[in-house]
Parts: sequence; structure tokens; C-alpha cells
Amino acid sequence: MEALSCCIANSRSFLLGLLLLLASAVFFTEAETHHHDFVVQATPVKRLCKTHNTITVNGQYPGPTLEINNGDTLEVKVTNKARYNVTIHWHGIRQMRTGWADGPEFVTQCPIRPGGSYTYRFTVQGQEGTLWWHAHSSWLRATVYGALIIHPKPGSSYPFTKPKRETPILLGEWWDANPIDVVRQATRTGAAPNVSDAYTINGQPGDLYNCSSKDTVIVPIDSGETNLLRVINSGLNQELFFTVANHKFTVVSADASYTKPFTTSVIMLGPGQTTDVLITGDQPPARYYMAARAYQSAQGAPFDNTTTTAILEYKSAPCPAKKGVSTTPVFPSLPAFNDTATVTAFSKSFRSPAKVEVPTDIDESLFFTVGLGLNRCPPKFKSSQCQGPNGTRFTASMNNVSFVLPSNFSLLQAHQQGIPGVFTTDYPAAPPVKFDYTGNVSRSLWQPVPGTKLYKLKYGSRVQVVLQGTSIFTAENHPIHLHGYDFYIIAEGFGNFNPSTDTSKFNLVDPPLRNTVAVPVNGWAVIRFVADNPGVWLMHCHLDVHITWGLAMAFLVENGVGALQSIETPPADLPLC
Ligand code: C2O
Repeated sequence: MEALSCCIANSRSFLLGLLLLLASAVFFTEAETHHHDFVVQATPVKRLCKTHNTITVNGQYPGPTLEINNGDTLEVKVTNKARYNVTIHWHGIRQMRTGWADGPEFVTQCPIRPGGSYTYRFTVQGQEGTLWWHAHSSWLRATVYGALIIHPKPGSSYPFTKPKRETPILLGEWWDANPIDVVRQATRTGAAPNVSDAYTINGQPGDLYNCSSKDTVIVPIDSGETNLLRVINSGLNQELFFTVANHKFTVVSADASYTKPFTTSVIMLGPGQTTDVLITGDQPPARYYMAARAYQSAQGAPFDNTTTTAILEYKSAPCPAKKGVSTTPVFPSLPAFNDTATVTAFSKSFRSPAKVEVPTDIDESLFFTVGLGLNRCPPKFKSSQCQGPNGTRFTASMNNVSFVLPSNFSLLQAHQQGIPGVFTTDYPAAPPVKFDYTGNVSRSLWQPVPGTKLYKLKYGSRVQVVLQGTSIFTAENHPIHLHGYDFYIIAEGFGNFNPSTDTSKFNLVDPPLRNTVAVPVNGWAVIRFVADNPGVWLMHCHLDVHITWGLAMAFLVENGVGALQSIETPPADLPLC
């Protein structure tokens, strides 16, 4: 009887679904496929008084903004006309069953060699908001990046008043050098790479840098109107504060998931993160600076302490040329570089808009340490190759494994084709040694072991990961990004995670859904997700300097039952190594 009624209910909901499907096909425009050509090429770009042969997409820096609707398909043909290997990653796109289009080099594909091309094809399902795309090969993403904006489906709308204007704000980092040379030099010497020379807003450093003020970005606003700023931290290695003089923000979304709206005068974004804010023209018509500068949580480490600016300009503001009128924009106050209290208050404000279904009955309870390390100078190395602290070389790890990418096959390809010897599946569920992670860590624990280890997950398993920062060499905030998934951030805190006291702090009601979590300096964060997307998915610190040093791991999510729970077959033009 029970089985019968259940069956009736099922067929009824099937019919209803069919009707809805038909209705939507009739009343709304159908999902579209957008074709784009990305040509990766060197282009002269002049910043800070000097012209560099910068790697760009289609000669644009930042690259083109892609705008689509939820439900649409993107087909981007990437042609590599540069002299470096390249891949493109669609940061935050879930890539349900289309892992081949995810992009991280040697993880889901071999790189597109100079002269080669590859078409990324994927459908966006159930995602709305601000994401972005970037190169995922060496440090090319320093200049190869752009916004990816997903609007609601035709016929549906934002869960907030429709903004008058929408402006992407891409925060970036600029080196007065070739970024590839910067990372290569660091890899040679073992020292930390040079910090950037400027931050940028939509590719422009702004008024506080040499040779820059004539190109400062202007963002228009009108008295009384409410606009949406889609802020993206596309910087390589630096968490950033962002604020606008005399104006407040209402945060409405982050990492393309809506949030319960809250107001703040400053936001902080780790590289990889996005935050959508509403801003209202409620101040006297004038010009106001928007500004971004470093949030630097690592003590004593060098960082770029400059400030990038753009100008929020009221349309009725006095004309800059008018005599006797001061048109210098109002300058905002920014938090101190090490203002962790502001960061904590901000990140604790995030909630999902309503009650959400957080996975419970956890199948996989994982504990990952994240942090730096120092390798002793290897025997045959010259001292010039060991210029890290006290003649060492910098490294980094998760659970004491310093992640090494393969070079002959991508991990996904090796998995799919059963090629042995490319990776092992013995990534540890917990650190091999337990220690006082955020205390004074013994030197004997500073040297991780290199490896290409994956952690296997059964399709559909419910996963919890405690991300525990360490104070090895120096503690700092790590923006940890997971490919292929959004996850709930159910708690964060300082010190060592303590299951007996910290579990009671879990928000299982309305935690925020994100793809990148800024793990507090000298602290921890707990995330949960359901492994419903088969493939090989990289999890890593989004500070590129740390991924260079090995602060990464990967999940291997197995296929489930049937085609709809299995990864698609690889595209015919998938680049080979
Ligand atoms: Cu935004 Cu692995 O990347």
C-alpha cells in the first residue's frame, strides 16, 4: 500500500514536472548557448609608466566579461597564441558531470600548448550571481582573467530590488615585471616571490600610482539610485579590503550564492572570492573614492602596502574642469593592514537567506591542516637555490602532503582510463601527527612530504572537512577553494579546532554557501558538502604563491549509478600531454 501511494505520488510529480517544463518552454525564452572565442596572446600593456608584453585574452586586460543566464550553455574556444602553456578555469561553476571543462592544468586536462586550442563546453545549472574565469597554469592568471556573470533565468528576478546599474569591480595585482619570471625566480631560489607593485580596479591602479591617474576607472551613480557592485578578488596573492568613501554596502550575494542582506562599510575578499553589494546614491552629489588595499594576516612577511582607487561619480557632481570647485574625491578610511577583528566581524555576518538543507549524518569526517613549511636545503643544491629563511626552501602542504601535479597525464584522464602510476588514493583523512597546530610547532614537523595523493569519495557521500590553519613558519589567513562544489561554512574560529566544544557552535540552520572559505589566521573553518559531482576536484589555497608551494589536494569522486550520476565522456579535442 505504501509502495503504491509512493508510486502514485512519484508519477504525479513527474507529470507536474513535465507540465512545468512545457510551460516554461512556452512562456520563457529557452536556454541559450553562447559561443565565444578566447585568443590567449601577448599584448603591449602600459601600467606604472612602463609597457609590458602582457599575456591577455583577445588583447584585453582584464579579459572580456561573459554574461549569461542561469540554465545557459557556454562554449568558449580557447586558442593559445602565447608562448606559455595555458588552461582556463571557470571559477565557481559547478561543472556537473563536465569536469573535463573545469580547467586546472594537469588535474582535469593537459595544458593547451602554444599553437593549440580547446573548446570548453558546459551548462550552468542552478547558479546565479558573480563568478569569474581565470588561467589555471603557472601564474598566468595574474593578467588572464575576467568576470562571469550569471543572471536569473528569463522570467525570474533577484531576491532584492532590481538595481539601476550593475558594475563588475575586478580587484587585481600588477607586477612591474613578467609574472611568469617572478614565479620562476622564486622556484629557482626557494625564496618567497616578489610582491606586486600595484593593485588594480578593472585593470587600472588609480590616482595614487605614477603615470596612472588619467586612466583611473570611473563608476557612475545618480542621486537616489541603488546600484549593484559585483566585487571580485582576482588578485594573485593578497586578501583585500574594499570600501567606498561615505557610503555603506548591503551585501546580497557571495560566490554566486545569495546571502541574507547585511550592511557594512567595508568588505574583505580573499583571492577567488566574490561579493555582490548594493550601494545607494544617498550622499551629496560629488566624487568619492572606492579603494582596496591589503589585509595582511601573516606577521613580518613582506607585502604590497599600496592602495588602488577608482572613483564613484555622481552624474550631477560638479565638473572637474570648473574653476574654484574642489573636485578631489573624498577619500575613505580603510582598516589597518592587520585588522583581523574587522575580518572576523565581517565573515561572521554571512547567512544563507533562509533555512537550508545542511548535510547531516556525515559519511566522511575529514581533518586537514593547511599551512606553510620549510625544506632543508637538499644535498646537491647551491646556496643560491636555498634563499628561504635560514638557508631553506619554502614549501606548503595540507595534512603534511605537499601536492605535486603530474606531467604526463591529467589526474582525471588517468582516473578515467585507469592509467597506473600517476596518482595514489592514500591521501590521509587526518594529519599523520597530531600537534598543537597553532602553537609553537616543533621544527621536526616543518618539512612536508611531496606527493600526488587523492582522497576517494563515494558518489553521494556527505562530507565534512575541518580546515585547520597551522603556525608553521608563520600563521596566516588562507582562502581555501574547492573545485566542482559549493559548500556550507558551518563554523569558524581561532586556535585549534576542538570537537568537544566547537561542535555546539555549528550553524546547521542557515550557514552561507560558498566556493572559497577564508580560513582565519591561526584558526579553523568547518565546511560540509555532498559529493554529488563525479570527477577529480582540486582543493587548494587561492594564494597562487601557496599553490606553487604545494598547498593543495584533490578529491576523486566516483561515479554513481547510471549515466546521470557519471561524468561525461571526454571531448574529442581534449589536449593531450
Ligand atoms: Cu580560482 Cu583552482 O581556482
